[in-house]
Amino acid sequence: MKRRRFLTSLGGLATMGFVAPWARAVSGDMAHGMHASMSQAATELADITALPKGALLADLPRLANTTKQDALFRATLVAAPTKHKVMTGTETQCWTYNGNLPGPLIDVFEGDTVEILLENRLPQATTIHWHGLPVPPEHDGNPQDAVPPGEQRWYRFTLPKGSAGTYWYHPHPHGTTPEQVFRGMAGVFIVRTKEDPLADIPERLLLVSDLKLAKDGQIAPNDTNDEMNGREGQFVLVNGQHQPILRFHQGGRERWRIWNASNARYLRLTLPGMRFALVGTDGGLLEHPIPNLTEWLVAPAQRVELIVEVGEQPGLIDLTAAVYARGKMGSVQPDQPQRLLTVDFGAVKATTLAPLPTVLRRIEPLGRHRAKKRVVFSEEMSMADGRHDMKFLLNGRRYDMSRVDLISRINQIELWEIVNQADMDHPFHIHGTQFQVVESVFEGKTTRPAYRAWYDTVNLRAGEIVRIKLVQSFKGLRMFHCHILEHENAGMMAQLKVI
Ligand code: C2O
Ligand code: CU
Ligand code: CU
Repeated sequence: MKRRRFLTSLGGLATMGFVAPWARAVSGDMAHGMHASMSQAATELADITALPKGALLADLPRLANTTKQDALFRATLVAAPTKHKVMTGTETQCWTYNGNLPGPLIDVFEGDTVEILLENRLPQATTIHWHGLPVPPEHDGNPQDAVPPGEQRWYRFTLPKGSAGTYWYHPHPHGTTPEQVFRGMAGVFIVRTKEDPLADIPERLLLVSDLKLAKDGQIAPNDTNDEMNGREGQFVLVNGQHQPILRFHQGGRERWRIWNASNARYLRLTLPGMRFALVGTDGGLLEHPIPNLTEWLVAPAQRVELIVEVGEQPGLIDLTAAVYARGKMGSVQPDQPQRLLTVDFGAVKATTLAPLPTVLRRIEPLGRHRAKKRVVFSEEMSMADGRHDMKFLLNGRRYDMSRVDLISRINQIELWEIVNQADMDHPFHIHGTQFQVVESVFEGKTTRPAYRAWYDTVNLRAGEIVRIKLVQSFKGLRMFHCHILEHENAGMMAQLKVI
C-alpha cells in the first residue's frame, strides 16, 4: 500500500499509538514532553479571534552597536524566557533574544566585522546559526558547539564584499531547534552594500513567523501532525503582530524584504489584484528586476525582495498567503488562505513613478564544476511492535552528529543534485554559502531558470530533482538539511566536511 493511503486509512494517528522515532531520540524534559503530547489528543487551541489584529505595523527593533569603532559591530544577544502580551488578558511565556519578539535586527555593511556575545539564560543549550551568511564553521552555531545554560560565547566573523543580502539568525542545537524557534527565537540580519541601486526606495522589513497557542494563551507543544508535516500554528504573525496594517509610503513605492521564519509554513505570497517586481532572493539582488508578478512562493527559511507600487485603485489590499499544496499527510484540515497584513494605500497621492533601474548588479555564473554530490530526501513508514514509525531520511540515513556524510574541497566548484523521493515538499538548505540553481526536473520536464540568483534554500516538490552549483570557502563542518524544522530534527540532515 502506498504510504499516503496507508496514513489516511489510519485516520487519527494519535489514537493508534503512533510514536515517532524522534520522540524517543531526544533526552530529558523534551522527550518527556513529546511523549506526553504524542500519546494524548492534540492540545485544545486558542480561538482564532483570541489575538487582537489591525494595529499599525511596527518596525522591527534594532540591535544597537555598542562600539564606535569603524567597520565593527559589537553587541550582546541574551537568549532567555520572557513574557509577552500576545493574547488579550494573559501573558505568553516565550523564548526570545533580548526580550524582543521577534529578535532584534542586525543591520551592517559589507566589510564589517561582527562580534556577538551570546548569553544563554534558557533552561537548555543553544547556539546562534547565521543562516545564509559566509561565516567560518566554528562561528556558525553548529550543533556541536552548543552553549550550555548559564554560559556565554562570542561569535566573530567578517562580511566579505558581495555578501549584501537578506539573512537571518536562529538557534541550531541538537534536538531542540524546532522548539526554540517556535517559542520565538529568530531575528533578521541585513548586509548592505554602499552601491545599492535601490537605496532610495523606502524599505519595509517583514518577518513572517508562525504561532500555535493553546487555549490558556501559552505556546502549544507539537502534536503528531506537527512532527509529521512540520508545525503550523493557527496564527501567522508579521513582525510579531497579528494581521497588522501597513500604511504605504506616500511616494507610492516600497521595497519589501520578506523573511519566512516559520518552522514549516509555505508562503505563496499574493496581493490580490496587484502586480509586483522581484528584485532579490536569499543572497541579495538579481541582475534585473522581474516585473509583473502576481505571486511568489517563499518556502520555509527563504527570503525575498519585492518592489511594490501603488495600483490604479488605491485602497486596502491584503498581503495574503494563498493555499499551496505541499503534500501534507495524515488527517489534517484543508488549508485556508491566510491574511498576513493589510496594506493601506489611502495616504498615497496620485504620482508618476520613475522607472526602476534596469541593472541591479552583475552575477557571474559559477563555472565548470570539478566535483559532484548527490542528496536524496526520503520518507519511510514502518511498523514495529504494533507502532507506526515515520522516518525522514537524507541519503537513506538519519542525522548523526558524529558522522561526516560528504567531503568537499575548499574553493572548488561543485554540482549538487538534490532529489526529493518523498511524497511531500522539502526545502533544501546548506550552510556557509549561496548557490545558483542550474536546472530542475519535474514530471519529466527540465526547466532552467530564466535569470541568475543566489539562494541558500530551494524548495523541492515531491519527485522533483534540482541541480545547483556551489563553492565552500572555509574549511570545516557544514550542515545541509530540510528546513522544515521538525524534519531536520527527525534526522533529515547530514554533514559536509570541507577540507
Ligand atoms: Cu536556517 Cu541549518 O539552518
Ligand atoms: Cu543555515
Ligand atoms: Cu522536509
